[in-house]
Amino acid sequence: MFEIVNRQILSEGIKRIDVQAKDIARKAKPGQFVAVCPEEGDEKIPLTIVDTDTSRGTISFIFHEKGQTTGKLGSLPINESIYSIVGPLGSPARIEKKGNVICIATGVGIAQILPIARAYSKEGSKVIGIIGAKSKRKLMLESQMRICCNKIFVATEDGSYERKGLATDIFKKIINEQEVNLVYAIGSVEMMEAVCSVTKEKKIKTFVQLNPVMVDCMGMCGSCRVKVGGEMKHACIEGPEFDGHKVDFKEFKMRTQALEELDECHSHKLQPNPQKKESGPLAKYLWGFLKD
Ligand code: FES
Repeated sequence: MFEIVNRQILSEGIKRIDVQAKDIARKAKPGQFVAVCPEEGDEKIPLTIVDTDTSRGTISFIFHEKGQTTGKLGSLPINESIYSIVGPLGSPARIEKKGNVICIATGVGIAQILPIARAYSKEGSKVIGIIGAKSKRKLMLESQMRICCNKIFVATEDGSYERKGLATDIFKKIINEQEVNLVYAIGSVEMMEAVCSVTKEKKIKTFVQLNPVMVDCMGMCGSCRVKVGGEMKHACIEGPEFDGHKVDFKEFKMRTQALEELDECHSHKLQPNPQKKESGPLAKYLWGFLKD
């Protein structure tokens, strides 16, 4: 059992939990995640390991309370134990000294980029952080990003804090003004796709982290398959980090939509509609495997 030693509300609907997990803390590397199951019988939630403290034997993860299982996780009090945590899972991020590195993230992606930004900084790169959120209330980890980045830029869509607009607006400006050797992007599919289209043209190496639906987190169920470089990859064991220029974002969006529709159908006991959006036929196909 994994005892909760600290919990914190970071921003609207976003919580951080520190939990005793000595072995995971010792082995975890930036970019890896854990599969968390709050109580026996619950679904597993894949969550990035944001921090580790080997002296206390703890790991920290951050999550958005948006469903039944994350809601249950968020309601567990300090000293309570989590039923199971499996990890570290996934491939560690490929960190090396790279000169000027832009780490851009939006929403909960900021929690995922923090250990990456820290690792590039520790390795000797000059890290420029760009973080964005819908509003000030939804922004998180700004001070932690300020500590590990040489420079930080913040954007809010409603203009309630710092620059009004999208993180990609700032990104496009910076990338045209100075030399950048590597870009790391984590956030919405639209943001990662926009970043990659700019860097592909400029031939700047770009990594992204993909967060497809994961069920077993072990490479066996196939729910997390993503198309990269023309091949299907399992994000849970071959990712979540991928070369952004090789990711088929169109296929990724379609698959994500199909699984969301499937989830909706499953909860309402309905058949997917093949006419619905472009993902309909894929949802209908996957339904054939999952309906029983
Ligand atoms: Fe099942 Fe990756 S989550 S194969």
